[in-house]
Amino acid sequence: MKKILVTRRLLKENNRRITSIFNAKLNNNDELFTPDEILKYSKDCEGILAFTTTLLNKDLIKQLPSSIKIISNYAVGFGNIDIEAAKKKGIVVTNTPEVLTDATADISILLLLGASRRAYEGRKDAETQKWKWSSDYLIGKQLTGKKLGILGMGRIGRAVAKRAKGFDMKIHYHNRNRLKPELEDGAKYHYDINDLFKNSEFLSINCPGSKDTENLINEQTIENFPDGVVIANAARGEIIDDEAMIKAMKSGKVFALGLDVYRGEPSINTKYLELQNLFLLPHLGSATSRTRIAMGNRAIDNLDNFLNNNTEPKDKVN
Ligand code: GLV
Repeated sequence: MKKILVTRRLLKENNRRITSIFNAKLNNNDELFTPDEILKYSKDCEGILAFTTTLLNKDLIKQLPSSIKIISNYAVGFGNIDIEAAKKKGIVVTNTPEVLTDATADISILLLLGASRRAYEGRKDAETQKWKWSSDYLIGKQLTGKKLGILGMGRIGRAVAKRAKGFDMKIHYHNRNRLKPELEDGAKYHYDINDLFKNSEFLSINCPGSKDTENLINEQTIENFPDGVVIANAARGEIIDDEAMIKAMKSGKVFALGLDVYRGEPSINTKYLELQNLFLLPHLGSATSRTRIAMGNRAIDNLDNFLNNNTEPKDKVN
């Protein structure tokens, strides 16, 4: 059996399968490997099953053993891997698209609802039993009939649109390329992101994290939103300039923010934690057992196809 390294703990269902088809070095303690440990443990391996927390930058990729032929990332995003450096070294990189679309779209809706309906303040008041019902207590914003901007209309963005239609929202979107009408399904395309923002009473961020999308939400672009916008980010923390966002949340320009992802996570900019109008989750987008098992299987399929069956892996990204 071929040797591979798995950098974090997989669910037991995935462990059973991966150990039946590979000589897999597992990380059942689930401690984060240092770059040196990755180099040491990947010695003689042909593949690495990596996770969003496994940072494989240019430097580290250059030093990987020449036996490594594939990095199979257990995530749809692959910002943790320098895919160009991998390509240069002849290493194939794969991701796990499709299988986490529904779970992540659900979290986007949870963020929109949690932020707009003041779920954080509500939870705190309820658990400390310091509340009294009144007609103007914890008044939030209602989704019904509002314009929802979707930044990034890939699979997850479209699944958010489908759910938002259940709330009678009107869908606007920006994407690098306009979608075909059947995929657009009545949503209004904005070529210019600032046009999208002008038309977003709510915004759901669902684009990939990359150099191109870093700080797309910044001091200037925030000005374009209608006053009192509600924003949800289930994509990558780097898409938001945190200082600009915190300022806009304090001024009321942004009514509330829902976050599942953070720049430099698991750390969170502590200034966010002083705000009441923030609904936050610890990167739970794909966190259901059904989705996590499917992600594991997809990542294992990519390794299996490439290393054991000599076929092109389905989810090659470089
Ligand atoms: C999660 O963040 C993913 O990219 O799958």
